[in-house]
Amino acid sequence: MRLRGKHVSKLIAAALLLACTAECKPLDRRWLAALGSRGGATATEERQSPAAATEDTPSTSIFTDPLEDVYDPFQGLTPLDSTKLSIEHTTEPKPKPAKEGLIWGATFSDHMLEVDWDDETGWHPPEIVPFHDLELSPAASVLHYGLEAFEGLKAYAAPDGAVLLFRPDLNLARFNASLKRLRMPTFDAAELQALIAELLSVDADWVPRGEGYALYLRPTAISTTPSIGVAPARRVKLYVIASPCGPYYKEGFVPVKLYADTTYTRSWPGGAGYTKTGGNYAPTIFPAAEAQKRGCSQVLWLYGEDDLVTEVGAMNFFALLRDARDPSRLELVTPTLDRRDILAGVTRASVLDLARSWGDCAVSERDVGMRELRDAAREGRLVEAFATGTAAVISPIHAIEYRGEDLVCARGGDGIGPFAQRLWDALRDIQYGRVRHAWSVRAVEGSGSNAEAAQQ
Ligand SMILES: Cc1ncc(COP(=O)(O)O)c(C=O)c1O
Repeated sequence: MRLRGKHVSKLIAAALLLACTAECKPLDRRWLAALGSRGGATATEERQSPAAATEDTPSTSIFTDPLEDVYDPFQGLTPLDSTKLSIEHTTEPKPKPAKEGLIWGATFSDHMLEVDWDDETGWHPPEIVPFHDLELSPAASVLHYGLEAFEGLKAYAAPDGAVLLFRPDLNLARFNASLKRLRMPTFDAAELQALIAELLSVDADWVPRGEGYALYLRPTAISTTPSIGVAPARRVKLYVIASPCGPYYKEGFVPVKLYADTTYTRSWPGGAGYTKTGGNYAPTIFPAAEAQKRGCSQVLWLYGEDDLVTEVGAMNFFALLRDARDPSRLELVTPTLDRRDILAGVTRASVLDLARSWGDCAVSERDVGMRELRDAAREGRLVEAFATGTAAVISPIHAIEYRGEDLVCARGGDGIGPFAQRLWDALRDIQYGRVRHAWSVRAVEGSGSNAEAAQQ
């Protein structure tokens, strides 16, 4: 049997997850680099929570890239190399705002990572420099044709002061997949992960401590090619900025109402819906504003004549359904990635993996149509519905407006259903390093001052 690249990466990822020891090791950047984008991670040594999966949670939902085996336009150019990094520290550190007053995406740390690329050289030496505005030609093709891809992941402060990343290998694999779809240059994920660890080390005191707080990382790549014309990028700037953020739900969960939109379509087979590219987001703003006028906080994006569910705003969709014939049977269902019209969420993959490891219900990645959800809601079988994503982790859904009818989703008294609550608890325990888990990568070890601050 010939193993294709994506099969090999799945096998390596599964093997690494199983082989990952319980030992707590300091970060060795070369060692981390060697694990690269294949699911490797150090494990953190903390308590084992009964709510959480252990470090050998089977990883069944590793991201696969449709262009993995066919993309190779930049042979022979200089690869991204973290050993060439130079660091310029700011001479004017900014005052850090009180963490309680943080507004999402509005505050940035003191430094940023920057790497340029051109189609004659390849990747230039990476730099960590003081956070600054970019200088761009007004003709830069990112500004005209949206040649841009990005990622979003969080760095968490562990109880021992270490800075942890949650499954960064999946984000970086997805970043490369997005870049390929735009025919932009890719990078060795292990190298970018090592560079992100360096940025976190420089800005470690920007990682806010405490439950719900994190440093949101925004890797971005833009075409700086100074030429008007729909053409491949010849110059690219990859950068990573970092923004401290607070709990999404400051006063407990606020379950959202969705508008199942039958007018606008976010993505379609053969499109780029599986990528995190700016062009997927700009056209969602008008429909989202229309949904808000109807009292719905998010759009539930549908596809096709059967009104198949795809995503919720910029999150993935899950429903817990009771079987019509056998009420003792529950199924956790989320739309399949097969059509490539859905972003392969890291939280989605983790929810699937945890739910499968618990074995309490059937877990399905399949087509979910609005008529199926409507029948389940009418018959009281829509036990829970929720959306998942890095920002909010789990967002409970209390109702869906669909073709003039409000479909009501059951939920717990405090706004979140018991199944979603269990997932929330398990994910938070892993993300904050309160339990030992292979998904949690120690990017920066706890120093004396980090460790002290972590206790505050
Ligand atoms: C369109 C879309 N769907 C789903 C998600 C959730 O993905 P993740 O869990 O990786 O944050 C995001 C956020 O990145 C998104 O932008």
